[in-house]
Amino acid sequence: MKITVVGAGAVGATCADNIIRRELCQELVLLDIKEGFAEGKALDMTQTSSLLGFNTKITGSTNDYSKTAGSAVAVITSGIPRKPGMTREELIGINAGIVKNVCENLLKHSPDCIIVVISNPMDTMTYLSLKSTKLPKHRIIGMGGILDSARFKTYLQMAIGGSQDDLQASVIGGHGDTTMIPLTRLATYQGQPVSNLLSSEVLAKVAADTMVGGATLTAMLGTSAWYAPGAAGAALVESIVRDQKKVFPCSVMLEGEYGQSDICLGVPVVIGKNGWERIIELELNDEEKALFAKSGDAVRNMNNVLDTLSI
Ligand code: 2OP
Repeated sequence: MKITVVGAGAVGATCADNIIRRELCQELVLLDIKEGFAEGKALDMTQTSSLLGFNTKITGSTNDYSKTAGSAVAVITSGIPRKPGMTREELIGINAGIVKNVCENLLKHSPDCIIVVISNPMDTMTYLSLKSTKLPKHRIIGMGGILDSARFKTYLQMAIGGSQDDLQASVIGGHGDTTMIPLTRLATYQGQPVSNLLSSEVLAKVAADTMVGGATLTAMLGTSAWYAPGAAGAALVESIVRDQKKVFPCSVMLEGEYGQSDICLGVPVVIGKNGWERIIELELNDEEKALFAKSGDAVRNMNNVLDTLSI
């Protein structure tokens, strides 16, 4: 079993690091366009093998996709990250061409791989990957909702105390500062609604902090975050390669589900060896349905920008 991570920047390298620590594959290929960079990261990670006790072979490659041949899963993190004050959407002009090209190269050597898209603006990059490759929809999964849900759980835990393990909380909709929808009504702590434990003001703040979770970190770090995005990507890969059938909110092609069609948006899906296997249709109330429709409008507008780009 081989897994490829394209883009050896902070998110890609952290994702790769989490994958090797969990021994999810025999060989991990890390690829980057910057000369020698992926090779350096691969060598550095290989030197943690005896310290961390894993056996995965790690191969670095400067843009040589033949090294990725036969990958079961490929994670795309390529492109530029956002700078303080930027939205994810502002990256589309540069990242769209990169992601399209990466997909083409990956599929030349791994025609059967499942593609996980992390590059931003993630919902639109997932849509572009699907449209440009024409792969079966189950094989393209956008990673955003898992990360946003992890941030939601972090802010809930900070407000409630206790352990994040005892929380069930999901974020659906787009992976954007204004398009994501933290489902506060459905979030539970040890089986009881979090609204039993937190005031509506505190819950509203938790939701607002979640929505700008990425932007907050970008302002603090000077670039976008990597520990949680990398770990979230690896959790998704783990559910695929171990066929765990975990339910994660991911950006997938909707064909009527949640009242949306011809769009990739974050909804809870079962993740297993075939990619995303089934969409879970939550019973949203009218307010949540309206937010989901609004999120769909914003992401659709972003998808329409693809037609104006010469890629
Ligand atoms: C984030 O939210 C990178 O989009 C990613 O941090």
